[in-house]
Amino acid sequence: MNAQEKKPIDWKSLGFEYTRTDYRFVARWRKGEWSVGELTTDEIMHIHEGSPALHYAQQCFEGMKAQTAEDGRILLFRPGLNFERMRNTAERLSMPVVPEELFLCGVKEAVRANAAWVPPYGSGASLYIRPLLIGIGENMGLRPAKEYEFRVMVSPVGPYYKSGGLSVIKLAVSDFDRAAPHGTGDVKAGANYPGGLYATRKAREMGANEALYLDAAHRRYIEEAGSANIIIYTNSNTLITPKSAAILPSITRRSIMDIAAKDLGLATEERPIDLRAEIDTFAEVAACGTAAVLSPVGKIWFDDAWHSFYGNGEKVGPVMQQLYDLLRQVQSGEKADTYGWTVEV
Ligand SMILES: Cc1ncc(COP(=O)(O)O)c(C=O)c1O
Repeated sequence: MNAQEKKPIDWKSLGFEYTRTDYRFVARWRKGEWSVGELTTDEIMHIHEGSPALHYAQQCFEGMKAQTAEDGRILLFRPGLNFERMRNTAERLSMPVVPEELFLCGVKEAVRANAAWVPPYGSGASLYIRPLLIGIGENMGLRPAKEYEFRVMVSPVGPYYKSGGLSVIKLAVSDFDRAAPHGTGDVKAGANYPGGLYATRKAREMGANEALYLDAAHRRYIEEAGSANIIIYTNSNTLITPKSAAILPSITRRSIMDIAAKDLGLATEERPIDLRAEIDTFAEVAACGTAAVLSPVGKIWFDDAWHSFYGNGEKVGPVMQQLYDLLRQVQSGEKADTYGWTVEV
């Protein structure tokens, strides 16, 4: 597909919003079996009013992106890891696992069918892919659904944080907890998110872009932001990231930690990070995720004060800039993919 066949969209002005595309992929699970799945143009889901997804949040989702490379190829980033995470989530929520073949087929078909909506190379935008798995069908009591729908919807999107690009964001430590130590924080259950809406609102009232959560047991250790993990470059030249069983294992974070170790030769550590005890050792901080990519964090609000990092919280630090550039280059096919992370659609 050449650029002329793309939709007439001002790609550069896209935010992280839903844009209706032409097709979505749908498969259903009934009586122990998945249907082969098909593309549909209908963005409205027709489901029973008793559906366990609606009453008991028996549902989960994934988030990934497709990018156009300079040579026009459409690239996915490590989709096998999204499959694995959805499998883990489904098992935790007593839902049938979407087989890997069906998951990848659904993702690829939804992207291919909407190729005209995949933002062109260099536009700064990408196609966000949202696979979801929901429990449907007639039900009343608290029990697993008898039927399920797997759906893959896509939408072209721009930067997640309104400031856009690689501009510096602020986080405010939340008075609320995101996840319990042995709860569902490490899987991508939709139920993990609505409690965060209020926390995000409170963070925005403080002038921050998002909430930052501490561990629920001690309220000491950094967990993650509302929709992104945290990475920190310390004064002792080490890239550290929180170790916790209650945070979502971010595919972006895992990739950045590998890039830091292998491409930049940095020391890396995944370990509990005590915010108050260690903040003075933080040189550069960033939030990372599919939507956030790598967003430098300039300031964190807690204990009634703003705490700033590199460049007084105004500028992107050199290490985060390098990590961002390398990640983006691999994802967009600009740099040879020595890791084997990109998958052509
Ligand atoms: C709570 C949370 N943490 C972290 C992430 C980042 O994960 P990933 O890099 O796999 O997108 C996300 C987004 O998916 C998220 O919702």
